[in-house]
Amino acid sequence: MSSSVEFRGAVVLAPMVRVGTLPMRLLALDYGADLVYVEEIIDHRLLGCSRLVNRRLGTVDFVHKDGSLVFRTCQRERQRVVLQLGTADPDRAVSAAKIVERDVACIDVNMGCPKDYSTKGGMGAALITDAPRAVAILKALVANLSIPVTCKIRVLPNLSDTVALAQALESTGIACLAVHGRFKHERPRNPNHNDYIAAVCRAVSLPVLANGGSGDAVRLPLDVEYFRRVTGASGVMLARAAMHNPSIFRREFEDRLESSETLVVKYLKYAITYDNPFPQSKYCIQQLLHDRTESEVYRSTLAAQTWSDLCTLWNLSAWYGEHLAKMQHLEAEEEDASQE
Ligand code: FNR
Repeated sequence: MSSSVEFRGAVVLAPMVRVGTLPMRLLALDYGADLVYVEEIIDHRLLGCSRLVNRRLGTVDFVHKDGSLVFRTCQRERQRVVLQLGTADPDRAVSAAKIVERDVACIDVNMGCPKDYSTKGGMGAALITDAPRAVAILKALVANLSIPVTCKIRVLPNLSDTVALAQALESTGIACLAVHGRFKHERPRNPNHNDYIAAVCRAVSLPVLANGGSGDAVRLPLDVEYFRRVTGASGVMLARAAMHNPSIFRREFEDRLESSETLVVKYLKYAITYDNPFPQSKYCIQQLLHDRTESEVYRSTLAAQTWSDLCTLWNLSAWYGEHLAKMQHLEAEEEDASQE
């Protein structure tokens, strides 16, 4: 399949529930990520959404009929954002993907989530032991979408089963395969099976993204290329290393990471600018401060109840005042326009 998205050589932000919303994706792009995956969205949930153009924020929003915001995106990431679906059904996957097709660069299918709520419904890691269903879902998406389709798997305990699975998935016409080198039951503390990823890379010709290296193989930006080389992959996908410090994507000053203070300020500005949900934003800021959990600023951040509290804490009060004034002005303009 021809694809306008370049996976070879790509270093990408992995899909992460609660983390992979617009502010974190923009921060990852600022530091040099080539592609940014959205947190997993279940097909049923996307099917309940309407597409709304949000002129005040300059975004496109997918809002569920219960009123909740499911996915927010903007023009800046249009060519680089990958929406990951949680699905167990080819028809439902296609219908859900169609809702976002013109606003994202790719559609990915989650075949790695080991949680019961996913696997009981036949989604996530249940698909790596149900190759016929996995293949049917990907074939349906490839046949019916105008954008590339990818998928993300965990490895199977048996190496030759893993290779056979990867080959079956490749035969569907997907544009890229991300491989997390852990078995379904393994946790992050278990070593990543880089040799399994390497075997998959040797057996298929589509681009493979190596995943599972955070904290182990990958601690600094310069480790990213090392992880790519030991796995023989085309590119690298990073989750926890990026969640803790998105400057892991930087290509200069590769031997050091950005300070957490700078990251929190940048994140906070994006979160407020794009009206990201407050509790989820606070969770991400905690992750950015993961190595400062004993500090006063961490405790105060945890105690913050409002954007105003956070801005005071992070010396952004003047910026926040200007932001609120700008938003009030835009709202007034919108009201005037609607009355004309
Ligand atoms: C994840 N992971 C994950 N995977 C996925 O396919 N869809 C998802 O929505 C999520 N959500 C998620 C949330 C959080 C907070 C974490 C830490 C992880 C798994 C993730 O994408 C990745 O496969 C693993 O974390 C291994 O990669 P790293 O962390 O070693 O780079």
